[in-house]
Amino acid sequence: MAGTALIIRSDRAALRRPHNIGSIMESVNRRITLARRPSGLPVDADFSQDETPLPPVADGTMLVRNRVFAIDAAIRGFLDDRPSYLPPVAIGEVVRGMALGEVVESRLDCFAPGDIVRALAGWEEHSVLNADALGLEKCDIADRSQLSLHMGTLGPSGLTAYVGLFAIGAIKPGETVAISAAAGAVGNVAGQIARLTGCRTIGITGSPDKAALCSDLGFDAVVDYTAPGSLDEKLAAAAPEGIDVYFDNVGGEILDTILPHLAQHGRVVVCGMIANYNNADEQYPIRNLWQLLVKRATMRGFLTYDHPEFLGEAQTRISAWVAAGELRPLENISQGLQSAPDALIRLMSGKTTGKTVVCL
Ligand SMILES: NC(=O)c1ccc[n+]([C@@H]2O[C@H](COP(=O)([O-])OP(=O)(O)OC[C@H]3O[C@@H](n4cnc5c(N)ncnc54)[C@H](OP(=O)(O)O)[C@@H]3O)[C@@H](O)[C@H]2O)c1
Repeated sequence: MAGTALIIRSDRAALRRPHNIGSIMESVNRRITLARRPSGLPVDADFSQDETPLPPVADGTMLVRNRVFAIDAAIRGFLDDRPSYLPPVAIGEVVRGMALGEVVESRLDCFAPGDIVRALAGWEEHSVLNADALGLEKCDIADRSQLSLHMGTLGPSGLTAYVGLFAIGAIKPGETVAISAAAGAVGNVAGQIARLTGCRTIGITGSPDKAALCSDLGFDAVVDYTAPGSLDEKLAAAAPEGIDVYFDNVGGEILDTILPHLAQHGRVVVCGMIANYNNADEQYPIRNLWQLLVKRATMRGFLTYDHPEFLGEAQTRISAWVAAGELRPLENISQGLQSAPDALIRLMSGKTTGKTVVCL
């Protein structure tokens, strides 16, 4: 692969180590479970680690040795006891998240030992999956020394960015596209794809280091909302003719401040609202919704896997951009199952850039 992954925190030797397909199976399954519901930002004591016997492989299931966990903001939502698009994780249950792993035993049609699969599973060394596992797909990965990329730019983060920009935002060359959490997993890919599509890109981010990273990634303008001055004035300076598409990863005050800066017929792509996830009971009140009418704008949420018609095209184009060195993957890698809670805590503290993953 010609594209170079920009790795922020990693064990590079382990990354190059080929994953050991067909490894000797262990008899226990180490897991990270939910010890209690977090209040605000999660802390270590919200999680515990245990060992259980390896789960049996019944007809219609397969045993998967997990290799990479995607540490996603959505996981924080699964830990609260409130209605959402999936039921909450119960106390004592394995923490739920997307995992990429290799099949070690299969009694499920179309899957064989050695296959690499991606699905919503959990923070455990082995998972038993059936055909109904959310997002289950076999991944055709030629270079297995870089599996983690298939959880970030070449995986769900890249697909999310692509679906949001094209299926929901309908971006066109020449338009101005603003993206929040622009140095984050989805945001950095969205910014790079919008640039490659011929859009003018504005990255909105929360520190001087992240702002420098966004400039380095090729955003045309970068707004650091922590720098002196009002966000409103910074947006006016960055987008004097208005924002055609706002790719929203955060919600809250940034969304509210952006609405008056939309161009006529602007589109707000609601990818996520991470600013609310640690305090879902006290969400920032949005005061500027009237601007949707003033600007004849639309605002639409989405879930990536609701748009399967875009996924093949997205995978092909993103892989080609990365292979050509035109789209730089950005990763933040931790090693070992035990590092998963800290990786989530860092993500939810706004301390990460790029895709946060845990490699086993
Ligand atoms: N719709 C879908 O199918 C889908 C799929 C995947 C992800 N998502 C959503 O996409 C968004 C981005 O996810 P990601 O995985 O790419 O995360 P991320 O952007 O890598 O990481 C989080 C970033 O969000 C920003 N942020 C703003 N307010 C925050 C707060 N109160 N607490 C913590 N972080 C805050 C921070 O960046 P700054 O400091 O730069 O503001 C932080 O670094 C999330 O809302 C997620 O739920 C949606």
